[in-house]
Amino acid sequence: MPAVLILGASGYAGLAVGQALLRSGNYTVYGTSRSAEKAKTLTTNEITPVIGDASNSAFLAAAIHDNHIDLVIDLTQAYENAGNILNTIVQAARKRAETLAKDKSVGPKLGFIYTSGTWVYGSPKYRVSDLTVPGTSLSPGTPATAVGWRPAHEQAVLAARDVLDVAVLRPSTIYGRASWVFGVWWGPLLAAAASSGTQEVHISAEPEARMGLVHVDDLADAYVRAADRIDGRLGAWPVFGISGETLPAPHIIESAAEALGVKSKIVYDGAGGNPFFEALSLVSNADTSRARTVLGWEASHRDFIANIGTTVAAWKASQ
Ligand SMILES: *[C@@H]1O[C@H](CO)[C@@H](O)[C@H](O)[C@H]1NC(C)=O
Repeated sequence: MPAVLILGASGYAGLAVGQALLRSGNYTVYGTSRSAEKAKTLTTNEITPVIGDASNSAFLAAAIHDNHIDLVIDLTQAYENAGNILNTIVQAARKRAETLAKDKSVGPKLGFIYTSGTWVYGSPKYRVSDLTVPGTSLSPGTPATAVGWRPAHEQAVLAARDVLDVAVLRPSTIYGRASWVFGVWWGPLLAAAASSGTQEVHISAEPEARMGLVHVDDLADAYVRAADRIDGRLGAWPVFGISGETLPAPHIIESAAEALGVKSKIVYDGAGGNPFFEALSLVSNADTSRARTVLGWEASHRDFIANIGTTVAAWKASQ
C-alpha cells in the first residue's frame, strides 16, 4: 500500500482526509502533529503520528525518508512556510532519485498534493474553470488579498513536476462537523439569539457575496481520488477546483439565523478591510466540473440550506 504523509493531519480537513484514505483500504497513513496530545488523536484514528513541525526542513525530510513515504499531502494552511515545505519535499525527491541512480535504477516519483483554494479566483466577472490561471492577465478576477501570494506558489508546485508527481486541489469553503469558518458570521447570530433585547445584529459580510461550499467528507473523497491518480493519471493540468454548490451569503446567514432562533434584524456591515472577511465575501464564479470529468468526483452533500439545522447544531456544539 502506498504510504501517505499528511501535513496538518490532526486539523479539521487533515483528519477527514486521513480517515477517508484509510477507509479506502488502499493506503497506509502517517500524519505530522506538533503536540503529543494531538498525536494521540491520530493514533486513535489509525494514523501513525510523526511528532514535529512540518515547516522544519530537517524534521520533514526525516519524516519522508524514515517512513518510506510515497505521497505527501499538505493540509497545513501554513501560509508563510509553504515555500519551505515545498523545497524540502523537492529535495527529498531529488535525493531519492540520486540514490536510485547510483544503483543504475529509476523509480516512481514522490507524489505531492498541495491544498490551495477557490479564493485565488477572486470575484471574476464571468465564469472561470480551473483551466484559467489565477493571478495572470488571462484571469478575469484578482486573488483575495489574504491569498495574493498563492497563485505564484501554485506555479512553483507545478514547476516541480520534473521531480514530483503533483496535484493542486482548490477547495471552496469547507463545512460540516466542527467547521470553524462560519464563526465569523454565525458567532454574532448566536450572541443575538442569547440576548433577547438585541434589535439589530451586525454581520461582517457583503450582501452581494456568493460562496462556494463543499462538505468536509466530499472534500476528503476528492483527495483520495487525486491520490489514486497521482502517478500520471491526472492529465497535463493537475489542478482541480472542489466545490459542491454555490449560495448567496445572505441565504447562508439568514437560514442560520432562523435555525438559531434569531429575531433581530440582520445588518450587513461589509468586509471592513479585513482580509479574511474580504475572502469570505467574494462573488464566486467558479466552475468545478473537471473534478467530475478527471477525478470522477461528485459531491454527495448538495443541500446546504435544507440541512442547515444539523450543520448549525454541529458548529454550535463544537464552540
Ligand atoms: C482500492 O483499490 C482498488 C484497486 O486495487 C479499487 O478497486 C478500489 O475501488 C479502491 N477502494 C476505494 C474505496 O477507492
